Amino acid sequence: MCGIIGVVQKRGDVAPFLHQALKRLEYRGYDSVGVTTISEGKLYMKKEKGKIEEVHRKLNLDDMPGSIGIGHTRWATHGIPSMLNSHPHFDCNNEISVVHNGVIDNFLELRTELRALGHKLKSETDTEVIPHLIEDYMKDGMDLLQAVKETTKRIEGTYAIVVMSTKENPNRIVCTRDGNPLVIGRKENVSYVSSDIPAFLPMTNDMILLLDGEIASLSTDEVRIEKLSDESEVKRESIKISWTADQAQKSGYPHFMLKEIHEQPEAIRNTLRLRDDVIKEAANIIHSSERVFMLAMGTSGHAAQAGQHMFASIAGVLPIVELASDFSDTVYGTLTEKDCIIAITQSGETTDTISAVKYAKEFGVKIVAITNVVGSSITRYADYTVLTQAGPEIGVAATKTFMVQLTSLALLALKIGELTKFVKPSIIKAKREFLERMPDIVSETISRNEELARRLAGQMYDKPSLLFLGRGISIATAEEGALKLKEIAYNHAEAYSAGESKHGPIALVQEGYPVIFVAPHDETRSRMIGNIMEMKARGGYTISVILKDDKELTGLSDYVFTIPNQVEAEFSTMAFIVPLQLFSYYMALRKGFDPDKPRNLAKSVTVL
Ligand code: AGP
Ligand code: GLU
Repeated sequence: MCGIIGVVQKRGDVAPFLHQALKRLEYRGYDSVGVTTISEGKLYMKKEKGKIEEVHRKLNLDDMPGSIGIGHTRWATHGIPSMLNSHPHFDCNNEISVVHNGVIDNFLELRTELRALGHKLKSETDTEVIPHLIEDYMKDGMDLLQAVKETTKRIEGTYAIVVMSTKENPNRIVCTRDGNPLVIGRKENVSYVSSDIPAFLPMTNDMILLLDGEIASLSTDEVRIEKLSDESEVKRESIKISWTADQAQKSGYPHFMLKEIHEQPEAIRNTLRLRDDVIKEAANIIHSSERVFMLAMGTSGHAAQAGQHMFASIAGVLPIVELASDFSDTVYGTLTEKDCIIAITQSGETTDTISAVKYAKEFGVKIVAITNVVGSSITRYADYTVLTQAGPEIGVAATKTFMVQLTSLALLALKIGELTKFVKPSIIKAKREFLERMPDIVSETISRNEELARRLAGQMYDKPSLLFLGRGISIATAEEGALKLKEIAYNHAEAYSAGESKHGPIALVQEGYPVIFVAPHDETRSRMIGNIMEMKARGGYTISVILKDDKELTGLSDYVFTIPNQVEAEFSTMAFIVPLQLFSYYMALRKGFDPDKPRNLAKSVTVL
């Protein structure tokens, strides 16, 4: 949540870059935006409530002097979106400027203390205490770096903070983190810091990680990192990022979400190229554990649900799938060092998932992470990381990262299957070969359903509620379909097991009520037919996602999306979710909503 950018360069104004970088970060939060720069010892500031381009039209974010600057796009936690609550925040004399991602838990007591000392605080945010604390330490004679170090001893909570001050000569940016992401970028004569890599990707592929409990000082010539605990210097090499700037652009598509849906075949293909030893190492950890948990949130949780079926049917291992947010409240400390967790998080920064992992580590549980972001927080808690290959995903609604999570879970299931020998090696081999065909199947699924999805959206957009039903692995598909619709088109959508539907949800069904069935040609199909009949008998409008030549289900359905090929049952989610992603996208468009920036949501949820 919230996008942070900072840049210090030798010459030239940084404002146009900050503006563009914030646009690349907008998926992290978009209720307000703000920028400060420093030129000739004077601080310049522009901030306002609203999306970046609205604010730019009003304030011209490109027109600010100075070769050092910081910017922020906000996802409010403390205080409504407003000009005063927008970041950056300042000290009493407008000399220190701070952007922050996270939550300062003890802000109320700090605020009371600072007010008693005569500080004038203008916003309702938790963040604003930070520049005022720094101000006091600098008044005591400390430089910016030392003052920020002292400030970190006073604040409790989670944070990524980027700070600059007019009092520093030569210019530098100081940044530190505890619990929220920050990455540093470097090229000759320029240093960058941001919450996420795409912000500086067009400028450099050289990234330096900053870890929790570290503080960095950025100048045009160097980046110096220290540990906060003992002020020792940390020597860290930069990492080359393989993502390209192009991947983080819309490349002619009207929205990132549509582009990312279309990138799914390539994302699967790239993830299938993961080195065998990477998968093997993770599989060994899982195989040697007594209990296997899969923890995740949202879409990643649906990947976990599908992964459970893959593991069970291919490897004979039945993982326990839990929401990371509720894990510690569910396991009641029954964990041991013989357990293992597969933590699935595309961003690698979801606080719910990281907290669950931290909790489990206290019991010695082994952690395998599946994430799409190199160097993200989860990778530091994990014993082993499988890095999915979706490239940057900018749309808030996860699509291609879901697909690569499924792909990597499939690879793991096959590898563990080799070890457990739950099914014959020839079956593993056939399924592995089938997986190689998934990119083409997904590609054809997109082309045959896109227009159908757009048309159905024209009929369904004003339906207040839709029911999504599936059985077995298709419950995960139905849940993901319903989540996509809720989050970007704001229709109420609920997913259920088709078996469970007659135990309550069927009461909702009356003439014209839309019920979407995920009905692959697997062993659940004949029971699904019964469920479709039940809904039809009550006047439900039946929409089915089915295999191309399934005449029987076509006849029973009012509307069908079709999958071009028979898909191995364990991998069906990868194909059957695609028409539902497209349907949600076109529903959002039909209703005039921006699918890339759904209300109240942010790409990575870094609060509990
Ligand atoms: C997905 O479309 C949602 N934006 C959300 O449910 C997301 O999947 C969830 O917040 C988990 O994110 P993560 O994969 O980055 O951990
Ligand atoms: N807690 C801060 C605020 O509400 C930062 C929120 C964020 O991470 O965007 O302004």
